[in-house]
Amino acid sequence: MALSPLSFKLIALISFLLLSLSKASLATLGQHRRHPRYTPHNYRDALAKSILFFQGQRSGKLPPNQKMAWRKDSGLSDGSSMNVDLVGGYYDAGDNVKFGFPMAFTTTMLSWSVIEFGGVMKNELNNAKQAIRWATDYLLKATALPDTIFVQVGDANKDHACWERPEDMDTPRTVLKIDKNNPGSEVAAETAAALASASLVFKTSDPTYSKLLIKTAIRVFEFGDKYRGSYSNGLKNFVCPFYCSFSGYQDELLWGAAWLHRATKNSSYLNYIQENGQNLGGVEFDNTFGWDNKHVGARILLSKAFLIQNVKSLQEYKDHADNFICSLVPGASSSSSVQYTPGGLLFKMGDSNMQYVTSTTFLLLTYAKYLTSSHTTAHCNGRTITPNVLRAIAKKQIDYLLGENPLKMSYMVGYGSRYPQRIHHRASSLPSIAEHPAKIDCSSGFSAMHSNSPNPNVLIGAVVGGPDQNDGFPDERSDFEQSEPSTYINAPLVGSLAYFAHSFSQL
Ligand SMILES: *[C@@H]1O[C@H](CO)[C@@H](O)[C@H](O)[C@H]1NC(C)=O
Repeated sequence: MALSPLSFKLIALISFLLLSLSKASLATLGQHRRHPRYTPHNYRDALAKSILFFQGQRSGKLPPNQKMAWRKDSGLSDGSSMNVDLVGGYYDAGDNVKFGFPMAFTTTMLSWSVIEFGGVMKNELNNAKQAIRWATDYLLKATALPDTIFVQVGDANKDHACWERPEDMDTPRTVLKIDKNNPGSEVAAETAAALASASLVFKTSDPTYSKLLIKTAIRVFEFGDKYRGSYSNGLKNFVCPFYCSFSGYQDELLWGAAWLHRATKNSSYLNYIQENGQNLGGVEFDNTFGWDNKHVGARILLSKAFLIQNVKSLQEYKDHADNFICSLVPGASSSSSVQYTPGGLLFKMGDSNMQYVTSTTFLLLTYAKYLTSSHTTAHCNGRTITPNVLRAIAKKQIDYLLGENPLKMSYMVGYGSRYPQRIHHRASSLPSIAEHPAKIDCSSGFSAMHSNSPNPNVLIGAVVGGPDQNDGFPDERSDFEQSEPSTYINAPLVGSLAYFAHSFSQL
């Protein structure tokens, strides 16, 4: 159903009246806080949990303030096979490999979340910054040598053939790198985007660290741009089919340059975008925003410079951003529109669909923010789409994720009364070190994998791949497509939850 601006205003008015009503009754009725229909979710609780999740994905030496206490140190000699220190960083998902490409994207999206919505995160701002720093400390190690980036630690095939706790893992910690002879422009440019965006996060709270981040970002981007090529060629046998770059490296070069422009305000990056923009994806129509494809993310990001800094040459990015936004508003696009499940969830694909839900929702809220600040709207085929229409679509996605769906299932572990019990995650599904100090070897773990019992360690805040196109969810551990969490599902969700926690905090 498409909402006209008028009907949207009407709905907004009605919900305002109902909210005021439930606020009034809340005062009189005391414990009857949960109006069955109109009281929103506890977005603040969900926000805190979405950030806490990152502690469960930590690799390396855990600090004394580690709250997710069932996790212990792991990967303490990572990098030693190449005489470098690569201890730290994040495991991407339910395994024990450190994949640099999605880790960098995760970092960029966590940073973007803080850049746009950190101002309303309150107590969670520091936790979000710690989650970013855990990644950037690692990315600084991975980029310490000139013209080299260490892009992976762990042999994914051998790791996936085992079901082991990270604390026990004994599969090869193979170190992979890109350099002049084996380029990897997509990983380099995404790493530059991560470091550049994080430099903005720490700009006032830790200027020294911020300067180190931006200095490294500039150098890493230069390297990735100068030695062009995809890491999926040179490292094919290791990175494919896991995080093979299907969309090429052009989108990351554009996205990386856009982030460097935002972080440095150096106009040479604008010149770069103008000179290379067409070749770097001016004609790209795939709107799938995620660890592989950054096209629409770059368009939304560059729209800000057009809308707010008045960089006229970026008009086409605003037009492209509108086209993307229109495809999400039912009935508003002439060319393509996205698919929703019968229950209303944005549906792109069966494997880890929720990553597109959270990334797209973040773009909707961010674009709505830019439009509001510049007093403009999106244009769809002669129709005007206001920022509030975008926020309403975003809210519906987040509310679905948190439990307003046909199965009444929250897809965030530990949030709500009903959530996935058997997530595809080695550390969560095996007994903790405290419960079972003795080593559980590679193949012994599979009895836990195949068991029907709930996971013993609750990976609070983990959001799984999510339901199928008919809103179904079997909650089976072997089903990695639907039951595996990942850092890049959560990263953009952090920003969206901060926005809603703030907007509904008066309740
Ligand atoms: C802007 O970036 C260019 C290219 O990286 C560099 O040569 C130049 O020194 C930078 N300018 C400033 C003011 O930092």
